Amino acid sequence: MKVLIIGSGGREHAIAWKLAQSRHVDKIYCSPGNAGISEIAECIDVGTSDFKALVDFVKYEWIDLTIVGPEEPLSRGIVDAFEKEGRRILGPDMKAAQLESSKVFAKDFMKRYGIPSAEYSVFTSYVHAEDHVRMKGTPIVVKADGLAAGKGVFVANTVEEAIDALRLIMKEKAFGDAGNRVVVEECLEGEEASFMVFCDGKTVKPMASSQDHKRIFDGDEGPNTGGMGAYSPAPVVTRELEAEIMEKVMWPVMKGLKAEGLKYKGILYAGLMIKNKTPYVLEFNCRLGDPETQPVLARLDTDLVDISFAMLDGKLGEMDIKWRPKSSVCVVLASKGYPGRYEKGKVITGFDTLKNEKDVFVFHAGTAFDNGNIVTAGGRVLGITALGDDIRDARDRAYRAIEKIHFDGMHYRKDIADRALKRQ
Ligand code: AMP
Ligand code: GLY
Repeated sequence: MKVLIIGSGGREHAIAWKLAQSRHVDKIYCSPGNAGISEIAECIDVGTSDFKALVDFVKYEWIDLTIVGPEEPLSRGIVDAFEKEGRRILGPDMKAAQLESSKVFAKDFMKRYGIPSAEYSVFTSYVHAEDHVRMKGTPIVVKADGLAAGKGVFVANTVEEAIDALRLIMKEKAFGDAGNRVVVEECLEGEEASFMVFCDGKTVKPMASSQDHKRIFDGDEGPNTGGMGAYSPAPVVTRELEAEIMEKVMWPVMKGLKAEGLKYKGILYAGLMIKNKTPYVLEFNCRLGDPETQPVLARLDTDLVDISFAMLDGKLGEMDIKWRPKSSVCVVLASKGYPGRYEKGKVITGFDTLKNEKDVFVFHAGTAFDNGNIVTAGGRVLGITALGDDIRDARDRAYRAIEKIHFDGMHYRKDIADRALKRQ
Protein backbone atom coordinates (compact mmCIF):
# COMPACT_ATOMS: atom_id res chain seq x y z
CA MET A 1 0.00 0.00 0.00
CA LYS A 2 1.08 3.58 -0.69
CA VAL A 3 0.40 6.45 1.69
CA LEU A 4 0.77 10.20 1.22
CA ILE A 5 1.33 12.55 4.16
CA ILE A 6 0.65 16.26 3.80
CA GLY A 7 2.86 18.57 5.89
CA SER A 8 6.46 19.16 6.92
CA GLY A 9 6.76 19.25 10.70
CA GLY A 10 7.68 17.02 13.63
CA ARG A 11 4.12 15.76 13.65
CA GLU A 12 4.41 14.60 10.04
CA HIS A 13 7.78 12.95 10.71
CA ALA A 14 6.21 11.06 13.63
CA ILE A 15 3.31 9.98 11.39
CA ALA A 16 5.77 8.81 8.70
CA TRP A 17 7.83 6.95 11.31
CA LYS A 18 4.75 5.16 12.60
CA LEU A 19 3.52 4.33 9.08
CA ALA A 20 6.95 2.93 8.19
CA GLN A 21 6.34 0.27 10.88
CA SER A 22 3.01 -0.76 9.39
CA ARG A 23 2.75 -4.23 7.88
CA HIS A 24 0.56 -2.75 5.11
CA VAL A 25 2.82 0.04 3.90
CA ASP A 26 5.19 -0.38 0.96
CA LYS A 27 5.86 3.24 0.18
CA ILE A 28 5.36 6.61 1.86
CA TYR A 29 5.24 9.96 0.10
CA CYS A 30 5.26 13.32 1.83
CA SER A 31 4.41 16.75 0.49
CA PRO A 32 6.52 18.74 1.12
CA GLY A 33 8.31 16.89 3.96
CA ASN A 34 11.72 17.74 5.45
CA ALA A 35 15.24 16.30 5.67
CA GLY A 36 14.32 13.71 8.32
CA ILE A 37 11.15 12.60 6.58
CA SER A 38 13.10 12.08 3.35
CA GLU A 39 14.96 9.21 5.02
CA ILE A 40 11.79 7.13 5.18
CA ALA A 41 9.53 8.74 2.58
CA GLU A 42 9.79 10.20 -0.88
CA CYS A 43 9.33 13.95 -0.47
CA ILE A 44 7.49 15.43 -3.43
CA ASP A 45 7.46 18.93 -4.75
CA VAL A 46 3.72 19.52 -4.93
CA GLY A 47 2.52 22.47 -2.88
CA THR A 48 0.13 21.66 -0.04
CA SER A 49 -2.23 24.32 -1.37
CA ASP A 50 -2.56 22.92 -4.88
CA PHE A 51 -5.30 20.35 -4.30
CA LYS A 52 -5.71 19.56 -7.98
CA ALA A 53 -2.03 18.74 -8.37
CA LEU A 54 -2.17 16.61 -5.22
CA VAL A 55 -5.23 14.69 -6.42
CA ASP A 56 -3.55 14.15 -9.80
CA PHE A 57 -0.44 12.86 -8.05
CA VAL A 58 -2.48 10.47 -5.91
CA LYS A 59 -4.28 9.14 -9.01
CA TYR A 60 -1.09 8.81 -11.04
CA GLU A 61 0.82 7.01 -8.26
CA TRP A 62 -2.15 4.89 -7.15
CA ILE A 63 -1.93 6.12 -3.58
CA ASP A 64 -4.33 4.34 -1.25
CA LEU A 65 -4.48 6.72 1.68
CA THR A 66 -3.71 10.37 2.38
CA ILE A 67 -3.16 11.72 5.89
CA VAL A 68 -3.24 15.48 6.45
CA GLY A 69 -1.05 16.99 9.18
CA PRO A 70 -1.79 20.73 9.39
CA GLU A 71 -5.10 22.56 9.73
CA GLU A 72 -4.70 24.92 6.81
CA PRO A 73 -5.46 22.49 3.95
CA LEU A 74 -8.32 20.98 5.97
CA SER A 75 -9.87 24.41 6.48
CA ARG A 76 -9.66 25.03 2.73
CA GLY A 77 -11.38 21.81 1.78
CA ILE A 78 -8.65 19.31 0.86
CA VAL A 79 -10.89 16.46 2.06
CA ASP A 80 -13.77 17.67 -0.15
CA ALA A 81 -11.40 17.92 -3.15
CA PHE A 82 -10.07 14.37 -2.67
CA GLU A 83 -13.45 12.81 -1.95
CA LYS A 84 -14.97 14.36 -5.05
CA GLU A 85 -12.44 12.28 -6.99
CA GLY A 86 -13.11 9.16 -4.93
CA ARG A 87 -9.77 9.28 -3.10
CA ARG A 88 -9.40 8.15 0.49
CA ILE A 89 -8.21 10.88 2.81
CA LEU A 90 -8.33 11.24 6.56
CA GLY A 91 -9.74 14.41 8.09
CA PRO A 92 -12.93 16.44 8.40
CA ASP A 93 -14.49 18.09 5.36
CA MET A 94 -14.36 21.87 5.06
CA LYS A 95 -17.61 22.45 6.93
CA ALA A 96 -16.68 20.22 9.85
CA ALA A 97 -13.16 21.70 9.95
CA GLN A 98 -14.79 24.94 11.08
CA LEU A 99 -14.54 23.47 14.57
CA GLU A 100 -10.94 24.68 14.28
CA SER A 101 -11.08 27.31 11.55
CA SER A 102 -13.80 29.43 13.17
CA LYS A 103 -13.80 30.11 16.90
CA VAL A 104 -17.33 31.53 16.56
CA PHE A 105 -18.54 28.31 14.91
CA ALA A 106 -16.85 26.22 17.63
CA LYS A 107 -18.26 28.29 20.50
CA ASP A 108 -21.79 28.28 19.07
CA PHE A 109 -21.53 24.53 18.40
CA MET A 110 -20.43 23.89 21.99
CA LYS A 111 -23.31 25.97 23.27
CA ARG A 112 -25.81 24.04 21.15
CA TYR A 113 -24.64 20.69 22.56
CA GLY A 114 -23.97 21.70 26.16
CA ILE A 115 -20.19 21.20 25.97
CA PRO A 116 -18.46 22.98 28.89
CA SER A 117 -16.51 26.03 27.74
CA ALA A 118 -15.86 29.64 28.82
CA GLU A 119 -18.72 32.20 28.71
CA TYR A 120 -18.38 34.27 25.54
CA SER A 121 -19.72 37.01 23.30
CA VAL A 122 -19.13 37.55 19.58
CA PHE A 123 -18.50 40.96 17.99
CA THR A 124 -18.23 42.32 14.49
CA SER A 125 -18.12 45.92 15.70
CA TYR A 126 -14.96 47.24 17.33
CA VAL A 127 -16.91 49.81 19.39
CA HIS A 128 -19.22 47.19 20.86
CA ALA A 129 -16.31 44.88 21.62
CA GLU A 130 -14.45 47.67 23.42
CA ASP A 131 -17.55 48.58 25.47
CA HIS A 132 -17.96 44.94 26.43
CA VAL A 133 -14.33 44.59 27.56
CA ARG A 134 -14.61 47.74 29.70
CA MET A 135 -17.82 46.46 31.24
CA LYS A 136 -16.51 42.93 31.96
CA GLY A 137 -13.07 43.92 33.27
CA THR A 138 -10.05 41.63 33.38
CA PRO A 139 -8.65 39.06 33.11
CA ILE A 140 -10.39 38.46 29.82
CA VAL A 141 -9.54 36.59 26.61
CA VAL A 142 -9.76 38.06 23.10
CA LYS A 143 -9.69 35.72 20.09
CA ALA A 144 -9.70 36.35 16.36
CA ASP A 145 -12.41 34.19 14.79
CA GLY A 146 -10.35 32.62 12.01
CA LEU A 147 -7.02 30.83 11.70
CA ALA A 148 -4.09 32.99 12.75
CA ALA A 149 -1.21 30.51 12.93
CA GLY A 150 -1.64 30.24 16.70
CA LYS A 151 -1.18 33.98 17.19
CA GLY A 152 -4.80 35.14 17.33
CA VAL A 153 -5.48 34.54 21.04
CA PHE A 154 -4.75 37.17 23.70
CA VAL A 155 -5.10 36.53 27.41
CA ALA A 156 -5.37 40.10 28.71
CA ASN A 157 -4.62 41.01 32.30
CA THR A 158 -5.46 44.69 31.87
CA VAL A 159 -8.20 46.50 29.95
CA GLU A 160 -5.48 48.22 27.89
CA GLU A 161 -4.07 44.84 26.79
CA ALA A 162 -7.53 43.65 25.78
CA ILE A 163 -8.19 46.83 23.82
CA ASP A 164 -4.78 46.60 22.14
CA ALA A 165 -5.71 43.07 21.06
CA LEU A 166 -9.08 44.21 19.71
CA ARG A 167 -7.39 47.02 17.81
CA LEU A 168 -4.76 44.68 16.35
CA ILE A 169 -7.36 42.15 15.24
CA MET A 170 -10.28 44.35 14.18
CA LYS A 171 -8.77 47.65 13.09
CA GLU A 172 -5.23 46.87 11.96
CA LYS A 173 -6.42 43.53 10.54
CA ALA A 174 -3.18 41.84 11.62
CA PHE A 175 -4.75 38.48 10.72
CA GLY A 176 -6.73 39.67 7.71
CA ASP A 177 -10.28 38.37 7.39
CA ALA A 178 -9.68 36.04 10.35
CA GLY A 179 -10.34 39.19 12.40
CA ASN A 180 -13.71 40.10 10.89
CA ARG A 181 -15.26 38.73 14.05
CA VAL A 182 -13.85 38.34 17.54
CA VAL A 183 -14.76 36.15 20.44
CA VAL A 184 -14.36 37.80 23.85
CA GLU A 185 -14.48 35.20 26.57
CA GLU A 186 -14.13 34.56 30.25
CA CYS A 187 -10.61 33.74 31.40
CA LEU A 188 -10.45 30.24 32.86
CA GLU A 189 -7.90 29.18 35.41
CA GLY A 190 -6.57 25.69 35.91
CA GLU A 191 -4.20 23.27 34.22
CA GLU A 192 -4.18 22.76 30.47
CA ALA A 193 -4.17 19.35 28.83
CA SER A 194 -4.46 18.10 25.27
CA PHE A 195 -6.88 15.32 24.57
CA MET A 196 -7.12 13.72 21.14
CA VAL A 197 -9.52 11.12 19.86
CA PHE A 198 -9.84 8.99 16.76
CA CYS A 199 -13.21 9.59 15.15
CA ASP A 200 -15.09 7.66 12.42
CA GLY A 201 -18.20 9.83 12.27
CA LYS A 202 -20.09 7.54 14.63
CA THR A 203 -17.64 6.52 17.33
CA VAL A 204 -14.78 8.16 19.19
CA LYS A 205 -11.83 6.33 20.73
CA PRO A 206 -9.40 8.14 23.03
CA MET A 207 -5.72 8.52 22.27
CA ALA A 208 -3.15 8.50 25.07
CA SER A 209 -3.33 11.79 26.99
CA SER A 210 -0.64 14.45 26.66
CA GLN A 211 0.34 17.94 27.69
CA ASP A 212 2.44 20.47 25.86
CA HIS A 213 4.47 23.48 26.93
CA LYS A 214 3.39 26.48 24.89
CA ARG A 215 5.65 29.28 26.15
CA ILE A 216 9.14 29.76 24.79
CA PHE A 217 11.04 30.00 28.11
CA ASP A 218 11.38 27.88 31.23
CA GLY A 219 8.76 28.42 33.91
CA ASP A 220 6.15 29.12 31.21
CA GLU A 221 7.57 32.60 30.56
CA GLY A 222 7.69 34.57 27.32
CA PRO A 223 5.54 34.46 24.23
CA ASN A 224 3.41 31.54 23.07
CA THR A 225 4.85 29.16 20.49
CA GLY A 226 3.51 26.19 18.55
CA GLY A 227 4.75 24.10 21.49
CA MET A 228 8.23 23.63 22.97
CA GLY A 229 7.78 20.11 24.23
CA ALA A 230 5.20 17.59 25.32
CA TYR A 231 4.80 14.39 27.26
CA SER A 232 2.45 11.45 27.52
CA PRO A 233 0.61 10.42 29.61
CA ALA A 234 -0.53 13.63 31.31
CA PRO A 235 -0.90 12.84 35.03
CA VAL A 236 -3.64 15.49 35.31
CA VAL A 237 -5.83 13.32 33.07
CA THR A 238 -6.81 10.56 35.48
CA ARG A 239 -9.03 7.64 34.43
CA GLU A 240 -12.03 9.41 35.94
CA LEU A 241 -11.22 12.63 34.13
CA GLU A 242 -10.75 10.78 30.84
CA ALA A 243 -14.21 9.26 31.26
CA GLU A 244 -15.60 12.71 31.97
CA ILE A 245 -13.90 14.24 28.91
CA MET A 246 -15.38 11.49 26.74
CA GLU A 247 -18.84 11.90 28.23
CA LYS A 248 -19.01 15.70 28.45
CA VAL A 249 -16.96 16.70 25.42
CA MET A 250 -16.21 14.01 22.85
CA TRP A 251 -19.52 12.17 22.68
CA PRO A 252 -21.54 15.42 22.59
CA VAL A 253 -19.31 16.58 19.70
CA MET A 254 -20.13 13.36 17.86
CA LYS A 255 -23.82 13.85 18.52
CA GLY A 256 -23.63 17.42 17.24
CA LEU A 257 -21.69 16.45 14.11
CA LYS A 258 -24.26 13.81 13.29
CA ALA A 259 -27.22 16.09 14.01
CA GLU A 260 -25.78 18.76 11.70
CA GLY A 261 -24.79 16.35 8.95
CA LEU A 262 -21.07 17.19 9.27
CA LYS A 263 -18.58 14.66 7.94
CA TYR A 264 -15.75 13.92 10.30
CA LYS A 265 -13.38 11.00 9.90
CA GLY A 266 -10.07 11.75 11.51
CA ILE A 267 -8.52 13.16 14.64
CA LEU A 268 -10.30 15.58 16.91
CA TYR A 269 -8.16 17.42 19.41
CA ALA A 270 -9.58 19.31 22.37
CA GLY A 271 -7.38 21.87 24.12
CA LEU A 272 -8.75 21.72 27.65
CA MET A 273 -8.52 23.69 30.85
CA ILE A 274 -8.95 21.41 33.84
CA LYS A 275 -10.56 23.41 36.62
CA ASN A 276 -11.64 21.70 39.85
CA LYS A 277 -11.22 18.34 38.08
CA THR A 278 -13.73 19.41 35.40
CA PRO A 279 -12.76 19.81 31.72
CA TYR A 280 -13.55 23.04 29.84
CA VAL A 281 -12.81 23.28 26.13
CA LEU A 282 -10.50 26.16 25.15
CA GLU A 283 -10.33 25.17 21.51
CA PHE A 284 -10.79 22.35 19.07
CA ASN A 285 -8.24 21.32 16.50
CA CYS A 286 -9.17 19.07 13.60
CA ARG A 287 -5.83 17.35 13.43
CA LEU A 288 -3.06 15.86 15.49
CA GLY A 289 -1.28 18.30 17.82
CA ASP A 290 2.33 19.22 17.30
CA PRO A 291 4.47 18.39 19.29
CA GLU A 292 1.98 16.19 21.20
CA THR A 293 1.85 13.70 18.33
CA GLN A 294 5.52 12.88 18.79
CA PRO A 295 5.29 11.47 22.34
CA VAL A 296 1.78 10.08 21.73
CA LEU A 297 2.57 8.11 18.55
CA ALA A 298 5.79 6.90 20.19
CA ARG A 299 3.47 5.02 22.56
CA LEU A 300 1.00 3.69 19.99
CA ASP A 301 1.19 -0.08 19.61
CA THR A 302 -1.59 -0.66 17.10
CA ASP A 303 -0.93 -0.31 13.36
CA LEU A 304 -1.80 3.26 12.33
CA VAL A 305 -3.02 2.08 8.93
CA ASP A 306 -5.53 -0.30 10.55
CA ILE A 307 -6.80 2.58 12.69
CA SER A 308 -6.93 4.93 9.67
CA PHE A 309 -9.07 2.56 7.61
CA ALA A 310 -11.28 1.81 10.61
CA MET A 311 -11.94 5.56 10.77
CA LEU A 312 -12.63 5.81 7.04
CA ASP A 313 -14.86 2.73 6.99
CA GLY A 314 -16.82 3.65 10.12
CA LYS A 315 -15.48 0.60 11.94
CA LEU A 316 -13.66 2.21 14.82
CA GLY A 317 -16.06 0.57 17.27
CA GLU A 318 -14.54 -2.82 16.35
CA MET A 319 -10.95 -1.69 16.93
CA ASP A 320 -8.97 -2.44 20.04
CA ILE A 321 -6.35 0.30 20.16
CA LYS A 322 -3.32 -0.49 22.28
CA TRP A 323 -0.79 1.88 23.87
CA ARG A 324 2.58 0.89 25.23
CA PRO A 325 2.62 1.10 29.03
CA LYS A 326 5.56 3.47 28.82
CA SER A 327 5.94 7.22 29.24
CA SER A 328 7.33 9.53 26.61
CA VAL A 329 8.77 13.02 26.52
CA CYS A 330 9.53 15.25 23.54
CA VAL A 331 11.79 18.29 23.84
CA VAL A 332 11.73 20.74 20.93
CA LEU A 333 15.01 22.28 19.76
CA ALA A 334 14.30 25.70 18.27
CA SER A 335 16.22 28.32 16.34
CA LYS A 336 17.47 31.39 18.18
CA GLY A 337 14.82 34.10 17.98
CA TYR A 338 11.83 31.77 17.57
CA PRO A 339 8.85 32.48 17.80
CA GLY A 340 9.99 35.84 16.41
CA ARG A 341 12.48 36.25 13.56
CA TYR A 342 15.14 33.60 13.30
CA GLU A 343 17.97 32.67 10.96
CA LYS A 344 18.00 29.53 8.84
CA GLY A 345 20.75 27.44 7.30
CA LYS A 346 22.68 26.51 10.48
CA VAL A 347 24.40 23.13 10.15
CA ILE A 348 23.06 20.51 12.57
CA THR A 349 25.46 17.88 13.91
CA GLY A 350 25.18 14.81 16.11
CA PHE A 351 22.58 12.71 14.29
CA ASP A 352 24.91 9.75 13.84
CA THR A 353 25.53 9.32 17.56
CA LEU A 354 21.79 8.92 18.14
CA LYS A 355 21.01 6.59 15.21
CA ASN A 356 21.15 3.40 17.24
CA GLU A 357 20.01 4.76 20.57
CA LYS A 358 17.12 2.57 21.73
CA ASP A 359 13.82 4.35 22.38
CA VAL A 360 15.16 7.76 21.33
CA PHE A 361 13.62 9.28 18.19
CA VAL A 362 14.86 12.40 16.49
CA PHE A 363 11.82 13.85 14.72
CA HIS A 364 12.64 16.62 12.27
CA ALA A 365 10.53 19.76 11.96
CA GLY A 366 12.28 22.68 10.23
CA THR A 367 15.22 20.95 8.53
CA ALA A 368 16.55 20.80 4.98
CA PHE A 369 19.56 19.52 3.06
CA ASP A 370 22.28 21.93 2.00
CA ASN A 371 25.50 20.78 0.37
CA GLY A 372 25.33 17.39 1.97
CA ASN A 373 24.58 18.82 5.42
CA ILE A 374 21.33 18.85 7.32
CA VAL A 375 20.60 22.48 8.18
CA THR A 376 17.96 24.41 10.11
CA ALA A 377 15.03 25.60 7.99
CA GLY A 378 12.38 26.64 10.49
CA GLY A 379 11.64 27.96 13.97
CA ARG A 380 11.09 24.58 15.53
CA VAL A 381 13.92 22.43 14.22
CA LEU A 382 13.86 19.02 15.91
CA GLY A 383 11.73 17.15 18.45
CA ILE A 384 13.89 14.83 20.52
CA THR A 385 11.48 12.20 21.76
CA ALA A 386 12.27 9.41 24.20
CA LEU A 387 10.36 6.53 25.71
CA GLY A 388 11.03 5.51 29.29
CA ASP A 389 9.64 3.48 32.16
CA ASP A 390 8.16 6.64 33.62
CA ILE A 391 8.15 10.35 32.83
CA ARG A 392 11.42 10.94 34.69
CA ASP A 393 13.21 8.18 32.81
CA ALA A 394 11.84 9.40 29.45
CA ARG A 395 12.79 12.99 30.22
CA ASP A 396 16.33 12.03 31.29
CA ARG A 397 16.81 10.04 28.09
CA ALA A 398 15.56 12.94 25.95
CA TYR A 399 17.85 15.46 27.65
CA ARG A 400 20.84 13.09 27.46
CA ALA A 401 20.24 12.73 23.74
CA ILE A 402 20.07 16.50 23.28
CA GLU A 403 23.64 16.82 24.60
CA LYS A 404 24.78 15.10 21.40
CA ILE A 405 22.98 17.50 19.03
CA HIS A 406 24.29 20.91 18.08
CA PHE A 407 23.49 23.87 15.85
CA ASP A 408 24.27 27.55 16.20
CA GLY A 409 21.70 29.35 18.32
CA MET A 410 19.99 26.12 19.45
CA HIS A 411 17.42 26.93 22.11
CA TYR A 412 15.29 24.55 24.17
CA ARG A 413 13.45 24.49 27.44
CA LYS A 414 15.15 22.71 30.32
CA ASP A 415 11.94 22.09 32.27
CA ILE A 416 9.86 19.94 29.92
CA ALA A 417 7.72 17.52 31.95
CA ASP A 418 8.69 19.07 35.31
CA ARG A 419 5.01 19.88 35.79
CA ALA A 420 4.18 16.19 35.41
CA LEU A 421 6.94 15.17 37.84
CA LYS A 422 5.62 17.54 40.47
CA ARG A 423 2.28 15.74 40.32
CA GLN A 424 3.76 12.33 40.91
P1 AMP B 1 -6.49 28.55 21.88
O1 AMP B 1 -5.79 28.71 20.57
O2 AMP B 1 -7.91 28.97 21.90
O3 AMP B 1 -6.23 27.23 22.56
O4 AMP B 1 -5.72 29.55 22.86
C1 AMP B 1 -4.31 29.52 23.01
C2 AMP B 1 -3.95 29.56 24.48
O5 AMP B 1 -4.59 30.69 25.10
C3 AMP B 1 -4.47 28.37 25.25
O6 AMP B 1 -3.60 27.28 25.17
C4 AMP B 1 -4.56 28.93 26.64
O7 AMP B 1 -3.29 28.96 27.25
C5 AMP B 1 -4.99 30.35 26.40
N1 AMP B 1 -6.47 30.48 26.50
C6 AMP B 1 -7.38 30.40 25.50
N2 AMP B 1 -8.63 30.57 25.94
C7 AMP B 1 -8.53 30.80 27.26
C8 AMP B 1 -9.48 31.04 28.31
N3 AMP B 1 -10.78 31.13 28.07
N4 AMP B 1 -9.00 31.19 29.56
C9 AMP B 1 -7.66 31.11 29.83
N5 AMP B 1 -6.73 30.91 28.90
C10 AMP B 1 -7.14 30.73 27.63
N1 GLY C 1 0.59 22.02 20.33
C1 GLY C 1 -0.62 22.68 20.07
C2 GLY C 1 -1.21 22.41 18.74
O1 GLY C 1 -0.81 21.53 18.01
O2 GLY C 1 -2.15 23.10 18.38
